[in-house]
Amino acid sequence: MYRSHTCGELRTPDIGTRVILSGWVQKVRDKGFVVWVDLRDRYGITQLVFDEQRTTATLLAEARKLGREFVIQVHGEVIERTSKNPQLSTGDIEILVSEIKILNPALLPPFTIEDDTDGGTDLRMKYRYLDIRRNPIKNNLIFRSKVAMEVRKYLSEQGFIEVETPYLIKSTPEGARDFVVPSRMNQGQFYALPQSPQTFKQLLMVGGLDKYFQIVKCFRDEDLRADRQPEFTQIDCEMAFVEQEDVLNAFEGLTRHLLKEIRGIEVEKFPRMTYDEAMKTYGNDKPDIRFEMRFGELNDVSQHRDFQIFNAAELVVGIAVPGGASLTRKEIDHLTDWLRRPQIGAKGMVYVRCNEDGSYKSSVDKFYDQEDLKKWAEATNAQTGDLICVLSGDTMSTRTQLSALRMEMAERLGLRNPLVFAPLWVIDFPLLEKDEETGDYHAMHHPFTSPKPGQLELLDTDPDAVRANAYDLVLNGNEIGGGSIRIHDKKMQSTMFRHLGFTEEEARAQFGFLMDAFQYGAPPHGGIAFGLDRLVAILGGQETIRDFIAFPKNNSGRDVMIDAPAPIDKAQLKELNLRLENNEG
Ligand code: AMO
Repeated sequence: MYRSHTCGELRTPDIGTRVILSGWVQKVRDKGFVVWVDLRDRYGITQLVFDEQRTTATLLAEARKLGREFVIQVHGEVIERTSKNPQLSTGDIEILVSEIKILNPALLPPFTIEDDTDGGTDLRMKYRYLDIRRNPIKNNLIFRSKVAMEVRKYLSEQGFIEVETPYLIKSTPEGARDFVVPSRMNQGQFYALPQSPQTFKQLLMVGGLDKYFQIVKCFRDEDLRADRQPEFTQIDCEMAFVEQEDVLNAFEGLTRHLLKEIRGIEVEKFPRMTYDEAMKTYGNDKPDIRFEMRFGELNDVSQHRDFQIFNAAELVVGIAVPGGASLTRKEIDHLTDWLRRPQIGAKGMVYVRCNEDGSYKSSVDKFYDQEDLKKWAEATNAQTGDLICVLSGDTMSTRTQLSALRMEMAERLGLRNPLVFAPLWVIDFPLLEKDEETGDYHAMHHPFTSPKPGQLELLDTDPDAVRANAYDLVLNGNEIGGGSIRIHDKKMQSTMFRHLGFTEEEARAQFGFLMDAFQYGAPPHGGIAFGLDRLVAILGGQETIRDFIAFPKNNSGRDVMIDAPAPIDKAQLKELNLRLENNEG
């Protein structure tokens, strides 16, 4: 037997018990006449004691040989500590060791295994197995497991069936590039790894399974960000005989269950906002509604004077930053510089201080009088003491820039409290999205999303106006999930592919199997997928998903621990009948 107890469980009532513990040496403190060793495992830390009076000289010498991260086993007796440590759950006791066995010595770790480690990200990623020994990462992984368990429990109770779908498939477009896998048995041909199980879950509906879910890996070859990994996990779901309302209710139920079970928070019915409203009010389709700073459009109250910049703009729009009037000129200049950085791309910023005495002081006093500025304050809901920040230009980019400013100011003002949870449904997304460079239309969600009833005709005349039964769940400004009601009719699906620029042959070659299936009794259906990594991170009070994934990739998509991706050898290339340019093989 390696252990009778874990390192996190012994307490005062255990005093006098003989125990066996195994774990890692966290720390050795040698005071000469006494040696203390902190022994750590997943469950906690227990202090071991060796001293001149009660321990044999050999044992004491052995204790002195221990290094950090050695794996050891000890036998001993639980005794009361003379100086207790209230920081530690086991801090009232210690183990007087009578026997010690080194199960495995260890090299000195390249960084300290402490909550606040001295290891940089690269080093931590290279030795991720050591990083996982640290509480912050370990606790995140335990937290993730708990969330996944609650998801399974809730959905199973609601009658969902977990079904696995294949990983070696044909491309399913979700807007990213595919990772591909060459086939040895079918030379010159490739599988694609799924960007999502989208088509399979629709086929499960045709198969009559009615309510499906899967906690599933998805693969997308896209640029990485704090909330994106090339392989990530979805809570993927689909339901038959449902309308949008049914899907929203089902997954609002799941989210509410998680908030309650995981965070102990009860949330009222989730608010809903159309995509158009979200864009107009927050400049963003995933608004953080934990705080106000709603957009006030100012075209009507700013384009009647001689200020050419505003007069030429498609949109003039502002937000009122709470308490911002106290910012100094220099601070406002810094803010303007921040907006001008290429990442944001604003040309400049007009501002208005709302003074305590009810007057206004703006950077454009030459053009606007107090009456004008009062109207700006009304439109942005500015109070005395606020700073109105105004941007102008073409609608899309101005909204994006002001949205970035809104988030930045909220961050600076401490309004993004990670322990406050504000879910929101964004609904009525446009069906299509125009690529400004090529002028081509793409499906905004994916090509299987159905337009709202009666809007199919608009596809020919006004494609931008077509709205879809597509929805996102947003939590604290993060897109947690997205889904839609699907097309289940072969004709409509063909029309959709045609509008997305597929020829009939291309559509047939890529998605013939789906359209065929639609001819064999496809029920009306719809669904949603949540990003599990994101959900877990947000529930855990963070926005970066990497530390909620056991073995994540770095920003260049590399696993620096196993050193992947890596070249494959010539024999393997030959077997796959692959030839690389510049490769002599
Ligand atoms: P969508 O593409 O919106 O929908 O993806 C669903 C959710 O998955 C998460 N997500 C990611 N998380 C981490 N890294 C990534 N690279 C990444 N990409 C997406 C997001 C997102 O909201 N098949 C549809 C769902 C459906 O229609 O039912 C789909 O995949 O949280």
